[in-house]
Amino acid sequence: MTDPAIRSVLKEDRLFPAPADFVTRARIHSRDAYDARRAQALASPEAHWAEIACELHWYRMWDRVLDWKPPHARWFGGATTNLAFNCLDRHLHTARRHKAALVWEGEPGDVRTMTYAQLHREVCLFAGALEGLGVRKGDRVAIYMGMVPEAAVAMLACARIGAVHSVVFGGFAAEALRDRINDAGAKVVITQDASWRRGKEVPLKVNVDRALEETPSVEHVVVLRRTGAAITRVAGRDHDFHELLASAKPRTEPEQLDAEHPLFILYTSGTTGKPKGVVHTTGGYMVGVFASTRDVFDLREEDLHFCTADIGWVTGHSYVVYGPLLNGATSLMYEGAPDHPDQARLWSIIERHGASILYTAPTAIRAFMKWGDHLPARHDLSSLRLLGTVGEPINPEAWTWYHRTIGGGRCPVVDTWWQTETGAIMIAPMPAVVPQKPGSATLPLPGIDVSVVRHDGTECGPNEGGLLLVNRPWPSMLRTVWGDDARYVEQYWARFPGRYLTGDGARRDEDGYLWLMGRIDDVVNVAGHRLGTAEVESALVSHPAVAEAAVVARPDELKGEALVAFVTLKTGHDATDVLKTTLADHVAQEIGKFAKPDVIRFAAALPKTRSGKIMRRLLREVAQGKQTTGDTTTLEDLNVLATLRSDDE
Ligand code: PRX
Repeated sequence: MTDPAIRSVLKEDRLFPAPADFVTRARIHSRDAYDARRAQALASPEAHWAEIACELHWYRMWDRVLDWKPPHARWFGGATTNLAFNCLDRHLHTARRHKAALVWEGEPGDVRTMTYAQLHREVCLFAGALEGLGVRKGDRVAIYMGMVPEAAVAMLACARIGAVHSVVFGGFAAEALRDRINDAGAKVVITQDASWRRGKEVPLKVNVDRALEETPSVEHVVVLRRTGAAITRVAGRDHDFHELLASAKPRTEPEQLDAEHPLFILYTSGTTGKPKGVVHTTGGYMVGVFASTRDVFDLREEDLHFCTADIGWVTGHSYVVYGPLLNGATSLMYEGAPDHPDQARLWSIIERHGASILYTAPTAIRAFMKWGDHLPARHDLSSLRLLGTVGEPINPEAWTWYHRTIGGGRCPVVDTWWQTETGAIMIAPMPAVVPQKPGSATLPLPGIDVSVVRHDGTECGPNEGGLLLVNRPWPSMLRTVWGDDARYVEQYWARFPGRYLTGDGARRDEDGYLWLMGRIDDVVNVAGHRLGTAEVESALVSHPAVAEAAVVARPDELKGEALVAFVTLKTGHDATDVLKTTLADHVAQEIGKFAKPDVIRFAAALPKTRSGKIMRRLLREVAQGKQTTGDTTTLEDLNVLATLRSDDE
C-alpha cells in the first residue's frame, strides 16, 4: 500500500552530466570504477570503511571494524585516536603547515586568516585553558556562539581533551539554551558578548546570564569579546577568552581517545516536544566526514570551501569545521547574514576570496533567486567549480537557476541528503561520474545501503513512494540519544528491526536515483531549520492564555514550509490580534525567532478523533485552504471542521 502522503508528483527527467574538463581533473572520474567501488563496498562494507580509516591517524588500530548488536553499533572497537590531531597536527609536518585552515569574514567586513599552525597553537592553548577550568575527558561543554573562528577553536579544543561539545545555535533563546545545558549537564559554557546579525547585536551573553539562573551544572563561562557590547561579569564564574589564552599552559599532547568516545551532542527536533541530544562518537564520525567531504566535493588541495551553514547545525560541524580540516583544505567561514549590507553579500565574498566550492541550502537559493539575477551578475564568480545543496528537497527551478546563474553552467550541483543523525552525507552524486537530475540527490555513497519500502517493509517498485531506510550501520551514525537510549531505540529502530528509519519519504526512479520527498512525521523544515511541530505547540501552551495548540506546516515558496498554529484559548482570554503577536513573541522567547508561527488562528475547538488525538491531516488541509479529503469518520464533531473552515472566509 502506498501512503497518499508520500505520493510523488514530481516529474523531472533532464540529465546534467559534468563538463568534460571537470571530469578530466576529478578525483573520481570513471563511472565504471565508481560503480565497481560501490558494488565492492556493498559486498564488504567493513573492508571499505577500514580502507578509508587507514588514511587517518590512530594511536592504536582497531580489533574489529564493526561490532553490531542491533540497534547498537561500535565502530573501530579497541582503536584509539584523536580528532583534533587528525584535523591539525597531522598536517603540521607537511606543506600544509602554513596553509590557511580558516579564512573568515566578519559581518562588518573584517577578515582573518588562520593557518594550520596558527589554529593548532590556539587550539592547544584553549584546550589547556579548559583543563585549567577543571574540564576533563567526558565532561560536557556548551558552545553558544556566532560564526567566529573561536567557535571552531572551542570545538577542536574539546575534541583534543575528550570533552564532549554541545553547540547550541546562537539563534536559540535563553530558555532553549537552558534546557540544552541542563539535558547535557554542561560544566562550562563558551559564548561571546554578542554576535553580529544584519548590523545589529545579538545579545548572547545576556541570554547566557538568563539561562544560567537555572543551570546548576555550570561552573564556568568563557566569554569572547566580539562586538564590544556591555556585559556583566560574574566574578569567579566568568572568564575572558583572550585573558584565559594568555595565561594558559598549552595542551600539546592530544588525549588518546577510544574510537567510541563521545565527540559531541547536537540537539535536534523530533516528533515530541523535547529536543533530542544526538550523540556522535570520535572514530566513526571522523571516517564518515573525512571521506564524504573529499569525494562529494571532489576536494583539491587548492580549493576554498565555502559552506554557509551555521556551526550550530550539523552541516556546520561536518562541512565547515571537521570535514575540510580533516582533509587539509581551506574552509571559508562567514559570520553574518547573506543580505547585509546588501543582497549581493555572498557573491562579493566569493569574488573577494575566490571561493571554489559553495555549499548552501535551497531556502537560501530561493531567496537569491527572488533578489534577482543582476546581483550575482555584478560579481566575478568564475572561481566557483562546484555547487552543493542540503537541508530540504530542492525544487527543479531553484536547482537550474543555481546551476546556470551561480555556476555559469560549468559547475556540477551536488544535492546532498543526510541528517543530524547520520553525521555525514549519505546520498549525493559523485560530481564527475553521476549525471545530475534537478531535484534528485541521486545515489547513496559507497558503503551506504538504503531502501525505499512500503509500510510492511517490502521494497517499493520504481517510482513508488515509500519510507527511506538505511539497511545497515555506517560509521558516522548516531550512537544514542543523550540520556535516553530508549528513545533512540524506539524512534529509529523499533519499526523495522535492524534497519534505520530516516523519517523521510522517498522514491527511486528507473535509473536508481533517489528523490527525497520530505518528512513523513511531524517534523517540518522552515527556512532550513528542522523543527518539531510539537516543540512549537508546547511553547504555545506554556503561555497562560492558551488551552490547546496544534501546529502544522503548509508549503511556502521561499521557506519551504511555513508554520500555521491553531490555538484554543482558556476562558477569560479574548482572541485578539494583540494576543496573536504576544503568542508569536512568546514562541520566539521560548525557542527562538526562527520558530515563530507564520499564521496563528484562534479556534473554538480542534478537530479530534474519538480517542482524543488531534487530526493533523485535517488541519493541514485547512491550513492549505484545501477541501477535506479522506476519512473523517473518526472525527468527534464535524462542526469543529465546519467552524475552522468558515473562519477562513
Ligand atoms: O527531511 C530531510 C531534510 O532534512 C532532514 C534533516 O535535517 P537536519 O537533521 O536538520 O539536517 C540538515 C542537514 C543535513 C532530513 O530528514 N533534508 C536534508 N537534506 C536533504 C533533505 N531533504 C531533501 N533533500 C536533501 N538534500
